[in-house]
Amino acid sequence: MSERRLILGIDTSCDETSAAVVADGREILSNVVSSQVDIHERFGGIVPELASRKHTEVITRIIDRSLAEAGVALEDLDAVAVTNRPGLMGALLVGVEAAKALAFTQSIPIIPIHHIEGHIYANSMAHDVPFPHLCLTVSGGHTLLVYVREGWEYELLGTTLDDAVGEAYDKVAKLLGLGFPGGPIVDRLAHENTEEPVDFTVPMARTDSYDFSFSGLKTAVRYYIQKCDGEPPVGRIAAGFQHAAVTSLVTKTARAAKERGIRAVTLTGGVAANRRLRHDIEEMGAELGIDTYCPPFDLCTDNGAMIAGVAHHVWDKGIEADLSLSAHASAPLT
Ligand code: KG4
Ligand code: ZN
Repeated sequence: MSERRLILGIDTSCDETSAAVVADGREILSNVVSSQVDIHERFGGIVPELASRKHTEVITRIIDRSLAEAGVALEDLDAVAVTNRPGLMGALLVGVEAAKALAFTQSIPIIPIHHIEGHIYANSMAHDVPFPHLCLTVSGGHTLLVYVREGWEYELLGTTLDDAVGEAYDKVAKLLGLGFPGGPIVDRLAHENTEEPVDFTVPMARTDSYDFSFSGLKTAVRYYIQKCDGEPPVGRIAAGFQHAAVTSLVTKTARAAKERGIRAVTLTGGVAANRRLRHDIEEMGAELGIDTYCPPFDLCTDNGAMIAGVAHHVWDKGIEADLSLSAHASAPLT
């Protein structure tokens, strides 16, 4: 038997089917991700039923590939970890049932993982992040500011009251007639814009809470477009939207870091690819004397490696599931 602890991690929570093999929580032996963007793009958003069907179609192949790329046989696995919460119900169930089948046939434990635990852990697979730290998770489905203590204990400081920030990017892109996912396109147009950005109000700037809200900002963009005579100034709108959204994220993160006396901030999730956000977080870190971390992009977006990685520590806490494990569309991060 191998000296190292080998965990297979499965994530099917949204529109990526992913399986990965990780040794001892950090050494990524494989990380296979099958994206469904081509299926959903013509609808301008994720269609849950289509997502479940595609996961079902490819899950076995993706698991096989992850084992083959890792050079690991099924018998070598010590455990299987799976995202069972939160996410699209039908999509989650595909991963959970696959994990159960493997656990049953191999007589190995199942480690149930909260999807956001995986995102938070992603930075620690690439960097030595000290405790305690703050993690800003920004994706198409989530916007969370989390205080992370030694031993992977979490305190949720803030979350979005409505749309996730990536969702707002995608909806604004749709309003502007751009493609899906719209986040990278809006980011590029904002970056290339040389004119005065449209002045949109920074959301939630006047409250003491660490919560976010992006739906009002999206509506402000819609009204602005409706009032335009002729073609809307796409670059100026993209830049103005991006300024307001990113300022909201960075200002609250900076305030939480100051109030909690935190010396390290991590950024993760698909929107962590945003160049303005990365720049402003780094600038904030330099100003406040805080170390900032961002993992490589393939660990920012949904992937099985972060699930297998964090499972190493979750298992150490004695958390295991049996074949009665089910999925939960929403679940607190505790
Ligand atoms: O983490 P992710 O791959 O999937 C989940 O939502 O879990 O994140 C996808 C989201 C999409 O909303 C996409 O538009 C956004 O991340 N995104 C970006 C950028 N790249 C991806 N948003 C803003 N700027 C970007 N450069
Ligand atoms: Zn995610």
